[in-house]
Amino acid sequence: MIYDYKQRFIVSTISFFSLCFCYNFHNGFMEPSNNDNENGRPQQIHISLGPNTSDIIITWTTYSSCNQTMVKYGIDSNQLNRFAFGDCNVFIDGGPKHRKHYIHRVRLSNLKPSIRYYYQCYGSNGFQTLSSLLYNFKSPNPYNDWNARILIFGDLGLENGQSIPRIQKEIDDNNIDMIIHVGDFAYDLDSNDSYVGDAFMRRIEPIASRVPYQTCPGNHEQNYNFSNYINRFTMYDMIDSNINNHYYTFNVGPIKFISFSTEFYFFIEYGFTQMFRQYEWLEKTLINANENRHKQPWIITFGHRPMYCGNDNYDDCTRFESIIRKGWPYIGLGLEDLFYKYGVDIEIWAHEHSYERMWPVYNTIVHNGTVDPNNPYYNAQAPIHLITGSAGCKERLDLFRSPQPWSAKRIVDYGYTKFHIINRTHIYIEQISDDQQGTIVDSFTVIKNNDLPVWLHE
Ligand SMILES: [Fe+2]
Repeated sequence: MIYDYKQRFIVSTISFFSLCFCYNFHNGFMEPSNNDNENGRPQQIHISLGPNTSDIIITWTTYSSCNQTMVKYGIDSNQLNRFAFGDCNVFIDGGPKHRKHYIHRVRLSNLKPSIRYYYQCYGSNGFQTLSSLLYNFKSPNPYNDWNARILIFGDLGLENGQSIPRIQKEIDDNNIDMIIHVGDFAYDLDSNDSYVGDAFMRRIEPIASRVPYQTCPGNHEQNYNFSNYINRFTMYDMIDSNINNHYYTFNVGPIKFISFSTEFYFFIEYGFTQMFRQYEWLEKTLINANENRHKQPWIITFGHRPMYCGNDNYDDCTRFESIIRKGWPYIGLGLEDLFYKYGVDIEIWAHEHSYERMWPVYNTIVHNGTVDPNNPYYNAQAPIHLITGSAGCKERLDLFRSPQPWSAKRIVDYGYTKFHIINRTHIYIEQISDDQQGTIVDSFTVIKNNDLPVWLHE
C-alpha cells in the first residue's frame, strides 16, 4: 500500500507513538509489552554488507513470531515499489528466562551504486502486518575507486556510551559510509536476560539502520558461547560464501578487510578446533587477498584484542610474548608472523579503552618507511597497528604505563577513529575526541607506492 503525503504523516506519527508506548520498563530497560499486537513490529533494525558489493542485508528482531519477513524499498521515499523477502530464525537466549527472539534477515540485491534507498521492514503479530518506521541508506559503491569514509571504534556500551550522539551526528551530516565496531558491545548483549542487548540494539538503530555496521566479536560477547552476538548480527564472508560473524572478509573500494575473532585464543572452554579452523581460513583468505592485490592493494585486518599495547594493566598485549602475537606455547597459531608474511598493511584493534597508534612494527622492532623520513607511514616496512577502544562504556577509560619504542601516540579520551580512502595509494586516518567536542586529536596518512607493501616487494 502506498500512502500519499498526508496519510504517510499520519501513519508515521501513529507508528512512532505506538513504538514509544508499546514497551514496559524492566529494571530500567525497555522490554516488549504483553501486547502481542505490538510485539510483531520490527525493531533493532541494522544493515550490513551482503554477498556482492552491491548488496545490503537488513537484520531486525520481533517478539511475536516468524510469520512475516519482508522489506519494501525504493529510491523514492513516497513510493516503496520493490519487495524483498527473507529468512527468520528463533533465537533462545541462554539467560534464566530463555527469552525468544525472532531474528529476521532480508537481502536486497542488485542495488544501484551510491544511491539513497528508502525502506521499511514488515513483521506480523499473526493477525495483521506491522511496519517499522521509514529508514534510508546510501548503497555501497562496488567499484575499486570508492573513496569511502569509515568510522571505527570498539568497546561501546549501553551505559556511558558517550560517543553515540556524535557518531549519530556524523551519520546525520552524511560524513560516513560505514561503521566498523571492533568488538565489545552493550556490556553485555546477554546481560539481564538479554534486555541490555535489546536496549543497545535499539540505541544504535539510528546509526546502524543507515550505514553498514560491520563487526567482530570481543570478550564481552562470550557468554552462552557468543550466542547473542552470533544471532543478532549478519556478517557475510566473501571467501566461504556464508554468514560467519566470527570471521569474514569484505571489500571496500581498494581495501580488503579481514575480520576475525581473537576470542578463540582465550575462551578455550568452547574448544580448540575453532582456533585452528580460523587460522587456516585466515591463511586461505590472505593468499586470495594477495592474488587480488591489483584490485584491493590494501589488506586491513580487525580483531578485538591487540598484540601490542602500552596500557597500565595485565592484558595479553602488555606481555612481551602475547598469545595473539606469538600463539599458544607448543601449539603456535600466532598472528604476527602470519600477517607479516602475507603483507597485511594495517591492523586495527580495540579492547584497551584508549587510543594508541604504533610505528610500523614487526617482532618488537620498529620498521619505519624509507621514501620520506618525515613520514614513517610512507612505504612502511612492517604492519601499522592501531588501537581504538574508547567509544565509551561503563568500564571507563584505560591509562598507559611508560611508552615502548613502537608506541607513537597515546590518547586517553573518549572518541573514535575515521578512515578516509583518498585513492589506491593513500589512506587518511584521524582520531576524533568526543571529550573535546569533535576535535581531531591525531591524524596521519598511510601511503604505499605499490600494490604490495615494501617488505614483500623488495
Ligand atoms: Fe574487550
